[in-house]
Amino acid sequence: MELHPLERRIIEGLKAIGGAGTSTDVADAAGIEKIQAERFGYSLSNKGIVKLEKKITPRIELTEIGENYLKNGLPEDQILKVLSEGKLHLNELKEKTGLNEKEIGAAIGILRRNAYISSLKTEKGLELEITSFGEEQLGKKSKLYEALENIKNGKEVESNVLDTLRKRGLVNLDHKTEYFLELKTNVSENLLKEEKVVHQLTHEMLKTGSWRKVKFRKYDLEAPVQPYYGGRLHPLTIAKNKIRKIFFELGFEEREGPLVESSFWNFDALFQPQDHPARDLADTFYLEVPKTAKLPDKKIVGSIKEAHEHGIAESKGWQYKWDEELAKKPILRTHTTAVTCRSLFSIEPPAKVFCIGRTFRNETVDFKHLPEFTQIDGIVADENVTFKDLLGYLKEFFWRLGFEKIRFRPAYFPYTEMSVEPEVYLEDRDEWIELGGSGIFRPEVTEPLGINVPVLAWGLSLERPIMLKLGLEDIRSFYYKNDLKWLREVPRI
Ligand code: PHE
Repeated sequence: MELHPLERRIIEGLKAIGGAGTSTDVADAAGIEKIQAERFGYSLSNKGIVKLEKKITPRIELTEIGENYLKNGLPEDQILKVLSEGKLHLNELKEKTGLNEKEIGAAIGILRRNAYISSLKTEKGLELEITSFGEEQLGKKSKLYEALENIKNGKEVESNVLDTLRKRGLVNLDHKTEYFLELKTNVSENLLKEEKVVHQLTHEMLKTGSWRKVKFRKYDLEAPVQPYYGGRLHPLTIAKNKIRKIFFELGFEEREGPLVESSFWNFDALFQPQDHPARDLADTFYLEVPKTAKLPDKKIVGSIKEAHEHGIAESKGWQYKWDEELAKKPILRTHTTAVTCRSLFSIEPPAKVFCIGRTFRNETVDFKHLPEFTQIDGIVADENVTFKDLLGYLKEFFWRLGFEKIRFRPAYFPYTEMSVEPEVYLEDRDEWIELGGSGIFRPEVTEPLGINVPVLAWGLSLERPIMLKLGLEDIRSFYYKNDLKWLREVPRI
């Protein structure tokens, strides 16, 4: 039997610490890395010299939300406390507690199930009132809250309670792996002596042929090694590439457009009236620089103005005075429909175009919203397409992305008629989730841009379906968290 120099050092290290210890102790005693102690400890165990035991101890940590609830109370306790001061309407809770809609919804469910509150439907919405059971509960620590305290203090927690905490996203369960090494036999002094084995083949040996005469150390291919993390693409980039591939396979052509867009292409060309609420400062980012955006040639501007003021053919338009100056206002594009709309100007039907790009809306950041996100827009301009083709394209797209059950809900957009919102069904949540908007562009959009065939159009969220695929609850995980462990280990969709 031959020993690797590091195996020898482990044996010596083990002897120095009384014959047994964790891989950390052994590594310290032998003056080597912990991972080396584990790897060569493993090969020593294969040789029957060392007993190696792997111990996995669970590690439980409070998440950011968990810490927050520990400090401020669980949402159900916070709400109960607020209600102990008097009845409230459901829609007042957000302001009173600072909790978000999802937290409030879940907490109300819990409080109701325990009969701590009663609710009454009124004109102003659901009115909530604390019950006598609820009053009794006031000030008492719930089982869950106690569990949060225990975790914080490193104490044990029942496994079913732990499971609830995990499902609510209040704890992270991780584990710590530790190896124990123990010297088994009295290792013969002979074995410890340097043997004449060669650890590395050299250029010299190859040249002189001396490699034929020496004895090489054998590799132990089963020994544990440190995981190797090479560079990898961000999960959203991977998803984006997959989606691009789906559209290429369906015969689409990709387009890009500017992030700084004119109100003209973002709104006016899409037949959104100039007093439409989406144009409001509250929803849209207007830019001070550049001062104005360029409009396309006069003829097109003229026909868009005409469509807004008087409509086209039988339609009456919006019946107001269209202001060219408002159309020149530069904004951060609020949807990539601005890009597909621009493309109408240059395509020759039949044509299929898609665009995946960043869009911006003036939203408050929470687990569901970010001021910037990604959209997937597409159009199919073809004299032979109908509404059914639109549903077919969307079904095919989501199906290829891995969603099997898809349905459509009637919707409204100023630029499409008919309009629908595609929804996908999630088995484990037993829920339908809306993933974007779609429809057939109105003639008020297509005709001024010189297109006289039906144009199917859609604008879908990128982040949402990917969150569903990855089981993510919080959209901020993609952009703000920079959780290296998650980024390294998150599966590819
Ligand atoms: N632009 C719409 C949105 O951002 C989606 C949409 C695109 C709807 C194209 C209809 C047609 O929600």
